[in-house]
Amino acid sequence: MISRETIDEVRSRVDIVDVIGDFVTLKRSGQNYKALSPFTNEKTASFYVVPAKGIFKDFSSGKGGDSITFVMEHEGMSYIEAIRYLGKKYGVDLKEEARSSEEIYQQSDRDRLYALMNYAKDYYKESLTQSEEGQSIGLSYFRERGFNDRTLEKFELGYSFNEWDHLSKKALGIGYTEELLEKAGLIIKKEGGRFYDRFRGRVIFPVHNLSGKVIAFGARILTKDKDQPKYINSPETEIYHKSNVLYGMFQAKNAIRREDFCYIVEGYTDVMSMHQSDVDNVVASSGTAFTEEQIKLIRRFTENVTVLFDGDAAGIKAALRGIDLVLKGGLNVRVVLLPDGDDPDSFSKKMGSTEFKQYLKDHTKDFISFKIDLLAAESGHDPIKKAEAIREIVTSISLIPDPIKRSVYIQETGQLLKIQETVLLTELNKILIGERQKDQQEKTRTNNRAPVADILPDVATGSKLDTSGMVQVQERETIRLLLNYAENAYDDKRLIDFMMAELEDVEFVNPVYKEIYLVFREGAERGEVRDPLYFMEHGSTTARNMVAELTTSRYETSKSWGEEFQIYFPHEREILHDVAYTNVLRLKFRMIQKLMEENLQQMKVAVAEEDLERHFTIHEQLKGAEKELAVMLGIVVAK
Ligand code: CTP
Ligand code: MN
Repeated sequence: MISRETIDEVRSRVDIVDVIGDFVTLKRSGQNYKALSPFTNEKTASFYVVPAKGIFKDFSSGKGGDSITFVMEHEGMSYIEAIRYLGKKYGVDLKEEARSSEEIYQQSDRDRLYALMNYAKDYYKESLTQSEEGQSIGLSYFRERGFNDRTLEKFELGYSFNEWDHLSKKALGIGYTEELLEKAGLIIKKEGGRFYDRFRGRVIFPVHNLSGKVIAFGARILTKDKDQPKYINSPETEIYHKSNVLYGMFQAKNAIRREDFCYIVEGYTDVMSMHQSDVDNVVASSGTAFTEEQIKLIRRFTENVTVLFDGDAAGIKAALRGIDLVLKGGLNVRVVLLPDGDDPDSFSKKMGSTEFKQYLKDHTKDFISFKIDLLAAESGHDPIKKAEAIREIVTSISLIPDPIKRSVYIQETGQLLKIQETVLLTELNKILIGERQKDQQEKTRTNNRAPVADILPDVATGSKLDTSGMVQVQERETIRLLLNYAENAYDDKRLIDFMMAELEDVEFVNPVYKEIYLVFREGAERGEVRDPLYFMEHGSTTARNMVAELTTSRYETSKSWGEEFQIYFPHEREILHDVAYTNVLRLKFRMIQKLMEENLQQMKVAVAEEDLERHFTIHEQLKGAEKELAVMLGIVVAK
């Protein structure tokens, strides 16, 4: 369908920084760029773009490739779709014939859905401006609400005829199937195989994904009919997951990047009105509570959000709770309170662009300060209410991941509420410790559920792992085995010979274990085997204590088990070979993970091209070694 030459032309025109920049804000780092991974939930950037090579590498998900791969992965497109998308972006004429129904049939499922949604969007748009019904009902409605042509075009607004099957008839006529129409959520099926259009006699608001493709529709009623919902929305489909989407993000992303913050409003019309008032960095939550995915979506472009509140008291309190999740997501939250009875749509139209923008500037407040003011005013001098308010504010502060920001807020709260900082800190710590315990319990629970897994998560997944701590756990085990079984047989030699050979190049992390290990090593070099007693006489105090602790047996079979239930555990000595062998593998496994983490840390601050290259290579090598060891340990590591 698309010729080789055209594909090469597209390839030669693409600029990977520009391509990926449509989906995430890239920060310069030397010759290269980095960003938060658009594929995972990481909190520190390990997604790299190397423009000189036209490639990206995402260390948190393991994905990598060129511009085309990126678009395919990120947008779930086929190769051809990705070429088409990039061709359009760079103005390359793909010289494609109009698609026949056979070609439509050959597309992948997702591509077909995109194509159908695009078709429906065009059809609704055309109905709005080119038909009598659309003009007299839909267009006049938008005009009445003050939306101009530019806005209609920017948001691709449309109109759906007040008929049962106007859209579906057309779509079926050009080769789309009934099945696909249903999958796209455009028709509703009845028993007996009858079906009708989902959207009828309403104005249409298309919902776009980050690359500008239409993935859903919202449709607003035009009458005051109380029996009908004001909006009918597309259902979840293969290409539309409501919780991942923020309305207006496609139209806003460049402005968000430029301004480095994002306004959040409730509705479609709020977004449109703000654009018309020349405020383009705005998205809508579409009237529901925020999801983690939506916060992550914002974080791709900025860390700062400003939530616009309609000024009625009941609404504010409810909205405050929704914001806690945003804080937890690590975003800096500011708020603007609009005058009572106004929403961004009505207010911006009342004010005019310049005044509106000035109002927003003047009334933007930090969220915590806003909450303090609100609750302080509400509780007045009532001590019980005040205590309640303090707890609520400190709870919000406890959600902020950054400890420095937390402490700044604690100070501010102390000043504003005239209360000692230490009191607030105690309260804060109580909450933080409680949370940590909850996390811990959660972990134990999930571990108990899957005891076989012996989960050794991958350091590169972005989850915060205490790799150093895990290395030390294995070091301790090594020392314990040496202290207790050095002279026991291991194959045709002794355990200590096996250990010393295996651990030749290993450098211990923990100073006490290291001290003990070096004594063993130094002894072995003279052909002597150190025993616990030797340490009691020659070791440092800490080494002596450690040796004492590690030589007290934990593995004796409890008498009662054996006698009462006839259950005997094998003594560790009997399975020593396996124990020692796995210990060595695990120690190495952990050490590699630690090295990997250190390498990633260095990579994050690396500036020079060669350094980055070197760290890439080291990472790949360590990754290979980690995988190999994992296989030997019978563990599957995430990729
Ligand atoms: N919404 C919805 N279904 C409804 C009501 C609301 O999906 N029955 C969502 C829509 O995304 C809507 C948002 O919640 O945009 C905010 O609702 P509302 O303020 O009622 O709608 P507006 O978009 O402001 O529409 P209008 O200005 O025409 O009232
Ligand atoms: Mn509204």
